[in-house]
Amino acid sequence: MQSALNHQEFFIDNESDMVTFGERLGRAFSQEKNSQCIFLNGDLGAGKTTLSRGILRAFGHAGAVKSPTYTLVEEYIFAGRRVYHFDLYRLGDPEELEYMGIRDYFSDGSICLIEWPERGEGVLPKPDVLIDVKVEGEGRRIYLTANNFNF
Ligand SMILES: Nc1ncnc2c1ncn2[C@@H]1O[C@H](COP(=O)(O)OP(=O)(O)O)[C@@H](O)[C@H]1O
Ligand SMILES: [Mg+2]
Repeated sequence: MQSALNHQEFFIDNESDMVTFGERLGRAFSQEKNSQCIFLNGDLGAGKTTLSRGILRAFGHAGAVKSPTYTLVEEYIFAGRRVYHFDLYRLGDPEELEYMGIRDYFSDGSICLIEWPERGEGVLPKPDVLIDVKVEGEGRRIYLTANNFNF
């Protein structure tokens, strides 16, 4: 069956609303049983990590979220659910993802949030949800594209 591509746009005024918006997204992701690959596109300072903080909050992570710029990935484990937060900004070559066993991250209902996914092109799986964050005035414009994802 042909899957339905769903496209939505949002404007988020400030950081606190960004976290709240992320929480809403996170709740929607938590409804899905299968592993999910979420691409977070956008320039440095666009708000990808802020959005990730909101998504993680929906799963029960109340604290800060450090950018895994050097470690590439930070693991969060919640009752029965793993969330991996990737930041591939410093990835030299997509092949490095093969060495770290990237395939294992996308299993058993895990949720993978990936900042700078373009650095892993060719090795990363196709995203289930693609989120583009752009600075617009004082706020941020969010473009969400998803396959069969109810939000
Ligand atoms: N919706 C928003 N409106 C205004 N400022 C925001 C918004 N979302 C995030 N910010 C601010 O943008 C800055 C960069 O955020 P960050 O999430 O670290 O970006 P990135 O991970 O894309 O590099 C932070 O100072 C944050 O407070
Ligand atoms: Mg970031």
